Amino acid sequence: MDKTHLVDEITGHRRMRRNRKADWTRRLVQESRLTVDDLIWPIFIVPGAGIVDPIAAMPGVSRMSVDKAVEAVKEAADLGIPAIATFPDIEMELRDETGSNSLVANNLINQATAAFKKAVPNIGIITDVALDPFTSHGHDGILRDGIIVNDETVDQIVRAAVMQADAGADIIAPSEMMDGRIGAIRRALDASGHQDVGIMSYATKFSSGFYGPYREAINTSGLLKGDKNSYYISPANGTEAVRDAALDVEEGADMLMVKPGIAYLDICWRIKEAFGLPTFAYQVSGEYTQIKAAAMNGWIDGDRIMMETLLCFKRAGCDGILTYFAPEVAKKLAKA
Ligand code: PBG
Repeated sequence: MDKTHLVDEITGHRRMRRNRKADWTRRLVQESRLTVDDLIWPIFIVPGAGIVDPIAAMPGVSRMSVDKAVEAVKEAADLGIPAIATFPDIEMELRDETGSNSLVANNLINQATAAFKKAVPNIGIITDVALDPFTSHGHDGILRDGIIVNDETVDQIVRAAVMQADAGADIIAPSEMMDGRIGAIRRALDASGHQDVGIMSYATKFSSGFYGPYREAINTSGLLKGDKNSYYISPANGTEAVRDAALDVEEGADMLMVKPGIAYLDICWRIKEAFGLPTFAYQVSGEYTQIKAAAMNGWIDGDRIMMETLLCFKRAGCDGILTYFAPEVAKKLAKA
């Protein structure tokens, strides 16, 4: 070399860019990969037939009646998506103080499960047992004198969980953050012959503004009085989240979830490192909507950011992601 540069002394023989120089080197050194096997697709179910009702706050996402959802779930299975997560938009007349419709064996969520199991037996079905779709106040638990009562709520969601398993749910995913729920659900499932039904704990569910569009999707936004701060975790608290997850692991959770996703990658990493359980992130409604809305305005490349965010979950230690983008991503991956 005849001319020395300022950086020569600094770089010496160390040059990171050698591994980045060509497409083939980049492919060789790539550490994380997103595949269709990483995707769980959350869907919204409404009563009735023939309904595909777009959700204004979630462009590209619709509430579907069971018959239409069956078609969509078939497509998802054909695309190779391993599992779906279902959320019902229950008729207002059926919502009450205690969320009693959650204990009706053939309620909307269980009807949907039974239909999917029959029509699409090879896709996994993950159901939530939180009471918010069923309560007249939009809270996840039973409300008494202004307080979400823990133990009564657990008694009820345990019964709801067994009914969901009876209907064919493969994994129960409790999202209401009551104390002791994982152990209670595990015992009840075992006692009712559902040893093979798993539990994916929404282990670290944060009290987040990112859930806004979901509440529109299941029509709880107008109902909800106050906030969920007495049961969800504060966005400020990472160590508390790890402790909460530890209890769920002890109580028998098979898988853990972090929710929301992209603003909580440190929690994904800490939880995966701490417990080594299959760990999932939920890229929630607000995260989806941010990307869609900005892309629709031409301000960002929506496709690119969709793929980037999902890959980043993998890098952060997640085994998979619940995402409304699932079918879109699956199609894209199939083409690539
Ligand atoms: C409540 C529940 C929430 C979501 C799913 N189940 C949060 C809430 O409304 O408090 C959010 C999902 C999303 O935003 O995509 N049990």
